[in-house]
Amino acid sequence: MRTRREQPIQIKSPGQIASMRKAGLVVAHTLDVLADAVEPGISTADLDAIAEREIRGAGAVPSFKGYHGYPATICTSVNEQIVHGIPSDAVRLAAGDVISIDCGAIVDGWHGDAARTVAVGPVAGELAGLLLACERALWSGLAQASAGNRLSDISHAVETSARASGRYGIVREYVGHGIGTEMHMDPPVPNHGRPGNGPVLREGMALAIEPMLVLGSPQTRLLDDGWTVVTADGSRSAHFEHTVAVTASGPWVLTAEDGGRSGFERLRGEPATGQAEHPAAGAGSRS
Ligand code: MF3
Ligand code: CO
Repeated sequence: MRTRREQPIQIKSPGQIASMRKAGLVVAHTLDVLADAVEPGISTADLDAIAEREIRGAGAVPSFKGYHGYPATICTSVNEQIVHGIPSDAVRLAAGDVISIDCGAIVDGWHGDAARTVAVGPVAGELAGLLLACERALWSGLAQASAGNRLSDISHAVETSARASGRYGIVREYVGHGIGTEMHMDPPVPNHGRPGNGPVLREGMALAIEPMLVLGSPQTRLLDDGWTVVTADGSRSAHFEHTVAVTASGPWVLTAEDGGRSGFERLRGEPATGQAEHPAAGAGSRS
């Protein structure tokens, strides 16, 4: 999202967070189905049709369709496209591509928003490393979504993780966001920064954290369609996103089927892939 004037951060009741969880599970399931459908030859319009069928079949509403005139249910961003790629019959996936699939759904007026980048068949080692680094950076940020932490603790954790994994560009022109009764709410959630700044995180807040890492320069360019954001240098990009709630028992990843358990376990158990040493972060703790 882009940044606007800041509003107070919306605080949700446990019942409202439960509605957001329903939306999150629809998004998680839809992304699972889409990831399974990814194969050489499928068009991004085919993926969009699958997404709309899954979301509406679950009794939810696609949140992207019609958002500021956006024409589709999901965003499909292939290779050098970073975010907000528009599904098209003309775009067919090929072996060696990577595709960010971004999906949002509304249940009872409450939003869920998540994205993952999927490789089409085997991809170059450098590209596989980019995807792993971006997903790990996301989980490092999610682990900081605990009451009492500051917003920039999340940003700092994302940046620190990304840098520990390798020499990746961190996109700065697009950021994560608050989420609740709208998809994009305050506060903006940058993917870089010093720790200890910004609002204190409180129970009942919900955030969408979405790092975008690239193999080259993090400079972006907007295509003539008015939506698709690409790397200025044409280098490949990765994008992962989850919606997380700040709860009394720590971060609850609403768009992960298991609430984040396995993602946080992986983060604790696996060393960073890059050259730098990286102490494992504790889920929900301030490390
Ligand atoms: N999930 C995207 C984000 O977090 C939103 C897509 S914008 C839309 O920024 F217009 F495509 F809906
Ligand atoms: Co988002």
